[in-house]
Amino acid sequence: MRILVTGGAGYIGSHTVLALLNSGYEVVVLDNFSNGSWEALLRVEGLTGKRITLVEGDIGDRGCLDHLFAENAIDSVLHFAGLKAVGDSMADPLTYYVNNLAGTLTLCQAMSCADVHELVFSSSATIYGDGHPMPLHEGLPSGRPASPYGRSKLMVEEVLRDLAGSDNRWRIALLRYFNPVGAHPSGEIGEDPQGAPNNLVPFIAQVAVGRRDELVVYGNDYSTPDGTGVRDYIHVMDLAEGHLRAMVALSERPGVSVWNLGTGRGHSVLEVIAAFERAAKRRIPYRIEARRPGDIAAYWADSAKAQAELGWWARRSLDEMMADTWHWQQGNPCGYQRKLGIATG
Ligand code: WQD
Repeated sequence: MRILVTGGAGYIGSHTVLALLNSGYEVVVLDNFSNGSWEALLRVEGLTGKRITLVEGDIGDRGCLDHLFAENAIDSVLHFAGLKAVGDSMADPLTYYVNNLAGTLTLCQAMSCADVHELVFSSSATIYGDGHPMPLHEGLPSGRPASPYGRSKLMVEEVLRDLAGSDNRWRIALLRYFNPVGAHPSGEIGEDPQGAPNNLVPFIAQVAVGRRDELVVYGNDYSTPDGTGVRDYIHVMDLAEGHLRAMVALSERPGVSVWNLGTGRGHSVLEVIAAFERAAKRRIPYRIEARRPGDIAAYWADSAKAQAELGWWARRSLDEMMADTWHWQQGNPCGYQRKLGIATG
């Protein structure tokens, strides 16, 4: 089977491409390299011994998509391509709606014309909004996400529901991620944010490797056990494996299926710091500052539905997440430095 992975050169995309190749799938990657890395794909080819068909382009480019589908018999699409920086989306909402929403509309139009109706969408737990009791389960009504990023994810979910409701050929999985962290245990691929990381774990990793002086902990006055924010961190390899399970399940599940991809456990910022210090065997200097606007105290997943329906659950512990993060960062202090081309299909 041949799978199209949009955004396959990105953090979660590249780890999922690796899992697909190791499971015997052929992979076509479409990426505009606005945030992804050529080097990541080169290393995935090295790790798997398999070739990737790469198309450099944008999901909003209909001509590029039509050519890709004409040249490659695609069976299923895993759709990661999109912008995901919450703060940037506040400053530039239009860019987020054009990329995340309009881009997905163009992708779906091209898929429909090519008679490809199987789609796994990279959604987010941010669509729940806040105010719900924990843990968050798929039956909850969506809230009002706190950012244009989150709202773009919710809008895409609504579009995909309407699409599936209009044509029973569509088989769509909405995967609601909690907090993806970690790296492939080889240390060859991992998270390589552009500029200063917005997210906790890559920032800690850059402090540990000497790229940043200290971590700022945003608030220790939340109603949580130690006062710092609590999140459901999930290893990126568990996340990747969840995508493969969802993709396989779609062959028997017409319409729209929704699954949380989380561990079902929450950890505080201080617990994450402590776990990272155990992994890296070094202290992480930090200082406490005021809460970050838009943050909520705590959220974590009810992960029972994916376990019951997909036979999938997150297996890797917080310590493993931090150990794999450190292995990647220690070996790649500046992320993917080289930007090499690879054979394009
Ligand atoms: C986690 C905790 C912060 C940075 C992210 C993405 C969002 C979604 C889920 C995909 C919070 C604290 C952080 C720092 C800190 N991903 N923190 N110092 O905010 O849950 O959301 O993951 O859909 O798109 O943004 O993750 O890692 O930014 O924050 O104290 O330097 O760490 O306050 O409590 P968040 P995060």
